Order: sequence, then C-alpha cells, then structure tokens
Amino acid sequence: MTRRILVTSALPYANGPIHIGHLVEYIQTDIWVRAMRLFGHDVLYLCADDAHGAPIMLRAEAEGITPEALVERIGAEHRADFAGFGVGFDNYYTTHSDENRQLAEDIFTRLSAAGHIVRYGVTRHFDPLKNMFLADRFIRGECPRCGAADQYGDSCEACGATYAPTDLKNPRSALSGAEPVLKESEHYFFRLRDFADLLADWTRAGHLQTEVANKIAEWFEAGLADWDISRDAPYFGFRVPGSENQYFYVWLDAPIGYLASLWDWLNRREGRTVTLDEVRAFWSEREVRHFIGKDILYFHALFWPAMLHGAGYTKPAAVNAHGFLTVDGQKMSKSRGTFIQARSWLDHLPPEPLRYYFAAKLGAGIDDIDLNLDDFVARVNSDLVGKLVNIAARTAGFIEKRFDGRLAATLPQPALFDQFVAAGADIAAAYEGREYARALREVMALADRANEYIAGEAPWTLVKDPARLDDAHGVCTQALNLFRLLMVYLKPVLPQMAARVETLFDAPLEWEARRQPLLDRPVAPYSALATRIDAKAISALLESGRAA
Ligand code: MSP
Ligand code: ZN
Repeated sequence: MTRRILVTSALPYANGPIHIGHLVEYIQTDIWVRAMRLFGHDVLYLCADDAHGAPIMLRAEAEGITPEALVERIGAEHRADFAGFGVGFDNYYTTHSDENRQLAEDIFTRLSAAGHIVRYGVTRHFDPLKNMFLADRFIRGECPRCGAADQYGDSCEACGATYAPTDLKNPRSALSGAEPVLKESEHYFFRLRDFADLLADWTRAGHLQTEVANKIAEWFEAGLADWDISRDAPYFGFRVPGSENQYFYVWLDAPIGYLASLWDWLNRREGRTVTLDEVRAFWSEREVRHFIGKDILYFHALFWPAMLHGAGYTKPAAVNAHGFLTVDGQKMSKSRGTFIQARSWLDHLPPEPLRYYFAAKLGAGIDDIDLNLDDFVARVNSDLVGKLVNIAARTAGFIEKRFDGRLAATLPQPALFDQFVAAGADIAAAYEGREYARALREVMALADRANEYIAGEAPWTLVKDPARLDDAHGVCTQALNLFRLLMVYLKPVLPQMAARVETLFDAPLEWEARRQPLLDRPVAPYSALATRIDAKAISALLESGRAA
C-alpha cells in the first residue's frame, strides 16, 4: 500500500552558514525520503529557514542591514548549499512569512481560547545601555562554582556547571558591557502541564526511539513547567496578537514553520491561496515524520505535540533524533579547521562521498557520529571506487569494444542475479528503519561477491580466446546487471551517480523493475563514475577552514 508521508528536517537558523554537522541531518533525511520514494511511497519533504530571534536581529544590526535582508541572503545560501549536496526538498520556505504569521496567530488564538495560555509578570535581565532584555547567552560573567571568567549566563564551559544568570558573579551584557539590571515584564506562557497525560501516552506510544522515550520520562519526573513563549521588544519575530510589546519567542513559531512551508507548497501546487482548513486537513491525512538533532528534542517531543493537539492538528507519527557530528573524534573546531562549511567542502571535494560516508556511519540511534578524515578517504576509495565502480569499470569496456555495445541475450548465472534481487528485502527494511550503516554493509558484501565472480571468470582472459567470446559476453552482461542492482540499492545515497548509471543503461533504476535483468539491448559508452579522493584535497579543505 502506498503510504502518504510528510517528512521534515529541522529548520536551520538564518544567522549562519550550513556546516557539515548540519549535513548529517539533511543527508540522513534526504536518504530516507529518496528510499521511501524508491519503494513507491508518496513523500513530501519540507523545510525552511528559521528566521526569527535576537541573534539574527543583532547580527543584522552589526552588518548594518535589516533582518529581512539578512535572512533573504542567508536563505539563498542555504538553498544553494543543500542543492549542492543533493538534498532535494519539495519546498524550502522561511518562518518570516505571512503564512507563518497567520498560522502562529491562529494556533496561539486556539490555544488561548482553550485556556492553555496564561500571562504573568517575570523578572528578567535588562541591558540599561542597549535598552533591551537579554537572553541568557548575551550575559557573561564569572562562574559561581569555579570562578572561571567570561562564562555564559546559563552554563560554564570550564567546569560544566549550569545555573541561572542571576547566580553569575560580576555579570555583564555581552552587547554593551553594562551591568544588567533586573526588570519586570509580563510574558505569555504555554501551560504544558495541561497536556501531561496526553504526552505521557504519546511519548510511550512508539513515536520516539526507546532511548529518547526514556530520557523524556526523566523530564516528566522533573515536572512540566510553564513555557515562556514571548519576548519583549525589540525582537525580530511576530507580535503576539493583542499585545503591544510582546513577540512570539522564536521557538514558538519555528516548528509552525513546517506548516507554513506546507501551506506555501500547497498554494503553489493549487495555483491559488488554499485555506487554513485545507492545510490542516492535508497535514492530518499524512504520516508526519520529523528528523531532528538530539539537542532539540524537548521542543519536538513535548511542546510541539502539545501545541498541535491543543490547536486541533494531528500529532506527528514520528520524531526521529540523531546524534552529533564529531570530526576526528572531537567537536568541530575553528582552530583545527574542522568547523567545515558546506560551501568549502563543495569547493574542495565532491558531495556524494560525504553522503556515502555519513550513511555508512548512521544507525537509528542518537549516538554521535564521527567523521574520521583518514578513514573517510580510505573508505570512499575502497568501497565506492575499489569495489562498486570497479565492477562496471572492468566489464563495460568489453561490451563497448568487443560486443557492439550490446548486452548478451541471457545471463549465465540467473541464480546469482536472483540472490542479489532477494537481498533487496533486507536492504529496504534497513533503509526504512534508518539503519543505513547496515544497508550499506549488505550492499558492499554483494559488491564483494560480484567482484569475486568477475575475478573467477576473468573476462579479460576469455576475450582473448575466440571460442570463448560468448562466455565473455555473458560474464560482462552478468556483472553489469549485478552492478545495476547495487546501484538501485544505493540510489537513495548516491543520486547523482545513480542518474549517470540510468544514462549508461538508458533505463531508470526502479525498485520493482529491478527484478528483470537488462538483456539484448544497448549500453552507452562507459565513462568513469567515481574517482579516487586525494588526501591533499582534505588538507586543502582544513587549511581553508583555519584561514577563514
Ligand atoms: N532552528 C532550530 C531548529 C528549529 S526546528 C523547528 C535549530 N537550528 S540549527 O541550525 O541550530 O540546527 C538545525 C539542525 O541541525 C538541528 O536538528 C541540529 O540538531 C542539527 N545540527 C546542528 N549541528 C549539528 C552537529 N554538529 N551534528 C549533527 N547535527 C547538528 O536548532
Ligand atoms: Zn565553572
């Protein structure tokens, strides 16, 4: 049965470039989307830029431009970076859009009407020079535990302590250097505890990974506090309806951006402005699956399902979290050059090997994944070039030069072909379960068998013997058909290479049709499908990162 699925990746902040840490997520999601499409499902893949909040406002101010101009520019960069890595969104929108404003106001109004929004006074840090309230990250001071200087308002990088900004010694505004004063303001709050029972059920009903559900059980025990959903002006965002100086906190309208992206996509598909009811109906008829990093679980596994439910939308079918990327075993770092931007990667290296490497490391859990750069070079060269492409490289040339560019009419070993077909069931299950590492291990084991087959038959020897030319033709036909099956299996990971293989055979790589070998038909002249990665390109990449 065809499933109708709506998939999202988290919306990247519009205040900085996409880096390879982000790419873990967008590549993971894109592979899943492509795999599910390959299996015949109807999948819509949506994303957007997360445009609001104080950091974006302040960065625009520092650049002397409007926040609108900043998010416009960064949005264009993000789109180009994702396209460069073959991440194929159906729509990429922005939270700073009229659709998002209407949706946020509507959802807020519905939650408010149902009694889930309350308003009361809070005391917050205020910068008397900048004349604005300060988020914790804009307050710096000495750690109350270890005394380390210049620590953030919420946690100490030296000793790991977490605390309230009021605990800091000698607190200073990171914006003006002024000493923050405490000031009262009336904020809006979302009463998460109204949804405690609902969430207790939902978080244990198979929508989350087990390890995540366990983590969330701890949060439950800590108690569900009211969520502060507004911020004082000046703030780049949407004004809370009915308020003069309160704006929606960026995390209130950020996940609503998933719906805004859907709305924009629907408008364009229909060629008219569809109604909010239509958006809600479309959403509610899909299996909604969010892909996110483990750092933003609280928002997606608690606030978001509660908001959706409270406003009359269906809750997601799944929230899938992944771990964080490390490079050579350590956090990405500017000084080591490992804070690698997507754009610099594309300036030095092709994108698909990174897709392959991430896939080879990704499982369904939330463990961090490591990009080991030596291992990356070795693995890509050995798997993609040495094993996979080698199958075609060793046999396609003979078809072209000795057999008129035509495949033979029969396979010498149909049983071997059928084994490769049958392996598809496991590989498909692995993709669907986000066990990409397992899928690729199976594919590479098949590649080994294809290479053993070729080595055993030695077509390069057979072609020298006129009496055995037909055998050679059969072996090369068999090998190319095995190769083609492997490329069906790798199509979600390596879409560009798959497209070239489709041209080579003049036939699409399709799931059900894979069962039929290609026989007695032309093959286009072969040209290299992948080339070895030179370790020098990696050094140049790191060098450029250090220089930046
Ligand atoms: N804007 C929020 C998400 C809003 S979703 C309604 C945000 N943006 S982000 O740019 O900081 O991160 C976007 C996604 O990339 C998040 O899911 C985050 O976990 C992921 N990653 C960012 N850095 C990462 C690594 N170093 N490694 C793996 N994923 C990382 O959070
Ligand atoms: Zn400390």
